[in-house]
Amino acid sequence: MHKACPLSELAPGEALRLDSAPPIAVFHTEDGKLSAIDDTCTHQDASLVDGYVEDCRVEWPLHASRFNLQTGKIDAPPAKLPVRTPKEAPTFLPA
Ligand code: FES
Repeated sequence: MHKACPLSELAPGEALRLDSAPPIAVFHTEDGKLSAIDDTCTHQDASLVDGYVEDCRVEWPLHASRFNLQTGKIDAPPAKLPVRTPKEAPTFLPA
């Protein structure tokens, strides 16, 4: 398990990257939900923590792949593979 930070240090609408192996992106959405997914986009290895978050999805600005923050599934291409979530990688639950 990796500890991220106290929740008070991650404001709604912000995200942080944990330099673990693999890197993990932790999102605190505007509606107060926490999500953790693999930080690496499955399209071309970009960091998803720098993407745009809307509702429960993150969109990578360069190529516009979009992933569901709860399931890791693809919501918009060009990515063809989902990203992992804590269900697939239980050791990366946020603290
Ligand atoms: S690197 Fe993520 S959509 Fe291309």
